Amino acid sequence: MKQWIRKSSFVALSATLVFILVAAACGGSASDSNTLDIERPAPPAEYAGKTSPLVDAGAAVGAGKQLYTANCVSCHGEQAMGDGPASNSLNPKPKPLAFEMKSLKDDYLFWRISEGGAFSPFASAMPAWKGILSQDEIWQVIAFLRTLDK
Ligand code: HEC
Repeated sequence: MKQWIRKSSFVALSATLVFILVAAACGGSASDSNTLDIERPAPPAEYAGKTSPLVDAGAAVGAGKQLYTANCVSCHGEQAMGDGPASNSLNPKPKPLAFEMKSLKDDYLFWRISEGGAFSPFASAMPAWKGILSQDEIWQVIAFLRTLDK
């Protein structure tokens, strides 16, 4: 009997270990979401501390929405929940940004939208928009994103 207990707890322990290893191999999480599991880095010096220069952010929301719909919805989804039609083929996938707008500062957003994610630690498909969108347009998109805050 004693031996049986030892054997079964060994089996349970092995099963647990295998589960942990498989979960780790799948990106540190046993869930199906393959979003980036890193702490967001601070923006580099050239972006740090930047705030929106828009005098009237409210007035920029309409233009920001159009830009977002044309350029961002495919990956980020209409409500910025990370569920655009192209999102399933992405690894990492976008996070549900709408839930995090409160904690994301202007300088971080402006940096990430300008420079994209083709570098460490992101290594993502997030395109760099500087040179495609003007700085004003990027701030307009940010003004719109702020309205999606949940
Ligand atoms: C081809 C797909 C794709 C498109 C198009 C795209 N993004 Fe992204 N974006 C991503 C992915 C994937 C991530 C998550 C990985 C990362 O942080 O680099 C991301 C990350 C971000 C982040 C950082 C979010 C965070 O959680 O820290 C912001 C902000 C962002 N995108 C805004 C935009 C805006 C605004 C547009 C349109 C102008 C846009 N993205 C277009 C794929 C895309």
